Amino acid sequence: MTAIEELRHSPDQLRTRIAAELERARDRSRRLTDIDHDELVRQHSPLMSPLVWDYAHIGSQEELWLVRDVGGREPVRPDIDDIYDAFRTKRADRPSLPLLSPAEARRYVREVRDKALDVLDRTPLTGRRLVEAGFAFGMIVQHEQQHVETMFATHQLRVGAPVLDAPAPPSGSAPDRPEVHVPGGMFLMGTDLEPWALDNERPAHAVGVEPYWIDTDPVTNAQYAAFIDAGGYDNPDWWTADGWAYKNTAGLVAPQFWDEGARTRFGHVEPIPPDEPVQHVCWYEADAYARWAGKRLPTEAEWEMAARFDPETGRSRRFPWGDDDPRPEHANLGGTYLQPAPVGAYPEGTSPLGVRGLMGDVWEWTSSDFTPYPGFAMFPYPEYSEVFFGPEYKVLRGGSWAADPTAVRATFRNWDYPIRRQIFAGFRCARDV
Ligand SMILES: [Fe+2]
Repeated sequence: MTAIEELRHSPDQLRTRIAAELERARDRSRRLTDIDHDELVRQHSPLMSPLVWDYAHIGSQEELWLVRDVGGREPVRPDIDDIYDAFRTKRADRPSLPLLSPAEARRYVREVRDKALDVLDRTPLTGRRLVEAGFAFGMIVQHEQQHVETMFATHQLRVGAPVLDAPAPPSGSAPDRPEVHVPGGMFLMGTDLEPWALDNERPAHAVGVEPYWIDTDPVTNAQYAAFIDAGGYDNPDWWTADGWAYKNTAGLVAPQFWDEGARTRFGHVEPIPPDEPVQHVCWYEADAYARWAGKRLPTEAEWEMAARFDPETGRSRRFPWGDDDPRPEHANLGGTYLQPAPVGAYPEGTSPLGVRGLMGDVWEWTSSDFTPYPGFAMFPYPEYSEVFFGPEYKVLRGGSWAADPTAVRATFRNWDYPIRRQIFAGFRCARDV
């Protein structure tokens, strides 16, 4: 039983937990928006919204789901629904909208939060699927935390003096063996049990997997640099036709934010740590590296089996380390260090099969397209997942250093275009036996 599942039987404790998670999410989004007015309203990249858009959009989603739908209350600001509807305006066009000013946005999200907490106090967390075990509140917690990660990406794209600082991550350790053999077989993929899991993670279903090898750790900066030094970006043999064309058009020669053997990270120019998982590579680069290395990217099922399958019991765990919610010793999550940790820094997060660093550090590209599981049922709205299913998106797994523990699970599925590099994504390789 998960911690949330246990709390289902104690509504007051479940409410306390939800309120604490809402507050923790708000602390994080406030931290990333506690900067100068001009920095908040500026568009730092056409790929990203102005930070003040994200902040008010967080409030807008909270208003729609918690205040209006769950609470049945009067709208707070129906006049701004369209402005903060992510489907109505592309990110590149958001600066031209009549956005709330930073002061108005802060007032708005506070007003919505006060009402949402009042709704939380008065709503039975059972009897209706949307509120069962606090689902809608959990969905809104995850939504805010996902935007926190998006805002980290905006900060990384921002040019100018640093405004974010963090301590150094824990030190790493070399793996006993570079790859782990997974015998394959049947395992349970996805979940029916996780109360705050989103529709695309459901339902749990048995999947048969052929035996395979998977890298013990994600590919490091040093390993990726060897691919560059070997002329990896100059040899079409390693790239798919689409990848080669994109690489040439975009002029890719190294991961984003690398320049002349150094990298820029939140405004700091620093040496590239060799043992840290590589990040800011697109799917095409990950795929090309894997082919150069004589390997391939793992499928989504292979990734999840390596992360969850316990060969002793035949069970699929919630997380590589077991069923407990993530703690700081398990994985590099929550933005504590503003970077991935060197591989092997989290021995307690190792999976039963011996695979390391699956949760946190970097999102890991898989070879799989984003498609529904057999028996998928849209809930609670098609724009969460359903409208994105199809071959244009690749699945990423495991969460990055910027992801919050409430917004990752071994079943959690993220997706993006194969050209995207500003996200905190890396990869590990696999190969057939
Ligand atoms: Fe959103």
